[in-house]
Amino acid sequence: MSVYSELLKRVDKKNLPTHVAIIMDGNGRWAQKRHLVRVKGHEQGSKVVKRIVETASNLGVKVLSLYAFSKENWNRPREEVDALMQLLHRYLLVESNNLIKNGVRLSIIGDRKSLSPTLNELISDVCARSEHNTGTRVVIALSYSGRYEIVEAVKAVIKDVQDKKIAPDDIDEELFGNYLFTKDIPDPDLLIRTSAEKRISNFMLWQIAYTELYITKTLWPDFTKEEFLRSIISFQKRERRFGMTGDQLITQKNSSRGYSLNE
Ligand code: FPP
Repeated sequence: MSVYSELLKRVDKKNLPTHVAIIMDGNGRWAQKRHLVRVKGHEQGSKVVKRIVETASNLGVKVLSLYAFSKENWNRPREEVDALMQLLHRYLLVESNNLIKNGVRLSIIGDRKSLSPTLNELISDVCARSEHNTGTRVVIALSYSGRYEIVEAVKAVIKDVQDKKIAPDDIDEELFGNYLFTKDIPDPDLLIRTSAEKRISNFMLWQIAYTELYITKTLWPDFTKEEFLRSIISFQKRERRFGMTGDQLITQKNSSRGYSLNE
């Protein structure tokens, strides 16, 4: 039996993280280690994206978010930015039919205004064609920054208050969440970061309040479907407390068990 099948047996299919988010890091170091130009690392990283999207989709993960390009990444050398944009374009062009056939719904979060018209057109097309799919929702964060997202949400809330659509007293966490790019997407349950960096790098700052972190030293181009399963197995061993005590959780679990038995 393959390592993948062994690991798959250990995954509790009834307790999958609904939303897995990934900070794909280490492409540059992967290339440097091989005396290659950084872009080669991104190319290899792109292949891994394809594989992990397929794995998540086969497994039945509802939402997979991928941090592909931050607003800060615009400050990288021009050739690297162009190459990354081309890779994203190529990925969408080459993979879209396959993704759509497999039930994937694509969404893009970030500052769409800063993307080229050609890339924006392709994004709109793939998002529209996949809109009614009910399989895995793949969210690509592109020209994204968590702080930017929060500031844009604040501006939109203020406008709705000024337009008397909402009153200041209506503003609570739930309402605010509805102004974010992720308004119809549940918060990540599991955040994977590759390449051993222990940073959040401006990714989904609001949404990851209670997200479980899985940090691996594997560089993104070396990340495998086996390690994806390992991250899920690790997640399934955690006790998620959401600020409660361990004892409270046990009581809650027992009472919900009793409830379902009595139903
Ligand atoms: C971080 O590694 C990675 C990026 C800035 C780009 C991620 C892009 C891809 C994986 C490919 C294209 C994406 C899709 C969705 C098709 P880094 O360059 O910062 O690595 P380093 O820290 O080792 O320099």
